[in-house]
Amino acid sequence: MSDCRPIGIFDSGLGGLTVVREILRLMPHERIIYLGDTARSPYGVRSEETIKSFGLQCANHFLKHDIKMLVVACNTVSSVALELIEKKIKDIPVIGVVLPGARAAVLRTAEYKIGVIGTPATVNAQAYFRAINNLDPNIRVYGRACPLFVPIVEAGLYDHDISRLTAQHYLYEMIDLGVDCIILGCTHYPLLLEVIQGTVGTRIQLLDSALWTAKEVQDILTALNCITSLKDDGFEKSSFLLTDITEDTGIQAELFLGRKLKSFQRVTLDI
Ligand code: DGL
Repeated sequence: MSDCRPIGIFDSGLGGLTVVREILRLMPHERIIYLGDTARSPYGVRSEETIKSFGLQCANHFLKHDIKMLVVACNTVSSVALELIEKKIKDIPVIGVVLPGARAAVLRTAEYKIGVIGTPATVNAQAYFRAINNLDPNIRVYGRACPLFVPIVEAGLYDHDISRLTAQHYLYEMIDLGVDCIILGCTHYPLLLEVIQGTVGTRIQLLDSALWTAKEVQDILTALNCITSLKDDGFEKSSFLLTDITEDTGIQAELFLGRKLKSFQRVTLDI
């Protein structure tokens, strides 16, 4: 059995393309419908109420598409609004990026101390904390909001003294706390992986939630016998829907996706 319908994926903006990249790396024949709410990004510095309402509007948009699974590829929405979205989208599997990253970290920590970095909304919502403690209540979780990382990545400064200094500012405390794993709890942070690893040293393992989410998508589709039987290039057949398009959109998208986005189209969300 197979299911050739696309996978729906959404994010506050273009950062969720890091999740798309990993999904297509594992399952190159899958088709994706990606929605990025670029008109209202970033979400991570907004209130819980606003994030819930924006997240639901993005999820509702997929009711217009025949998808086989919905991936909330935004750590902020996954942390604040996943339960609400799951209640709304009932007929297909809905997953966020928090649980896959949490699971990977729980399996790896030897010191029982895990760090989580993300947007202020992600860290304040404590979703990673709850997910980790549900898996193992003996693990201590230390969260650190890193609000400057998102604009630094979007400005293309991820390999620059500015990003290195910022990483030191945010992360030295976490080294002192003795964590042995840090979850990169934001779509933008895979681009800072080398800078963060250089700052915290190789004793601390970095866990990219995008990668673990892609593995979870593959596991779920495999378990449900829903991997596509199509053999063509899924990326070529995928659609990229954005709520705003600027001159920089193509360059920014390439940054996160690791390849050129040939076409994307503007959509308006029902509010
Ligand atoms: N996509 C968001 C996240 O993963 C980062 C950008 C934003 O703040 O909207 O948390």
